[in-house]
Amino acid sequence: MKSLRWLMVMLPFLFVACAAPEPPAPPAAPAAKAYGNLLQLMRAIPFPHSNVIFDTQTKDPEGAEKPTAKATLVYSLGDSDVYAGWAAVENSALAISETANLLTIPRKCASGVDAPVDREDWKMYVAGLAAAGEAAYAAAQTKNLDKMLEVSETVTLACSACHDVYRDRDETMRCVPPPADGAPAAAPEAK
Ligand code: HEC
Repeated sequence: MKSLRWLMVMLPFLFVACAAPEPPAPPAAPAAKAYGNLLQLMRAIPFPHSNVIFDTQTKDPEGAEKPTAKATLVYSLGDSDVYAGWAAVENSALAISETANLLTIPRKCASGVDAPVDREDWKMYVAGLAAAGEAAYAAAQTKNLDKMLEVSETVTLACSACHDVYRDRDETMRCVPPPADGAPAAAPEAK
């Protein structure tokens, strides 16, 4: 009987303890992950966005050439060009810098070889791309076509610095680090 009385005293407390469970932990933010291979990423983001920048070498995105300017073609839907003009060039410049972030995420190249994201030279090319995008953003804000001409070269050089080493070679050798001693690199094991 004594133990039953104890239970009756304790029951309300047990109930309270059950009724107020710990709030569930919020879901963890998804870790950065690659959704495409490097070839798909290159064609999806830096290719069209660098073309918006390069197009300003011959066309003023808000001048007479506006209807056929890439800034209009890429950023318009039907008759609406709400995102076009110099704002579009700014946004494409930012897309170039954002691409640098994506180039730090481990992913495969089209050949199946891992993109060498941990290598120091790769990181240097990625930093160069981020800086080129920032320079293009600053130039687009001035709406000055001469500055766009200059910065187009900066962007081109940032792309080609990496392409010279990791892209512009036999397709099976793309993404394979160059041999340090000048000896020909062995063909990679595709994973
Ligand atoms: C850090 C290195 C790096 C940088 C910076 C870089 N790329 Fe690439 N890019 C590559 C590699 C490597 C490939 C080949 C990918 C593959 O085969 O999977 C490639 C492929 C491409 C392709 C596809 C070529 C084809 O065969 O169809 C395009 C287009 C491209 N890059 C555009 C650009 C542009 C434009 C920029 C600059 C705004 C740029 N890339 C900056 C490494 C880079």
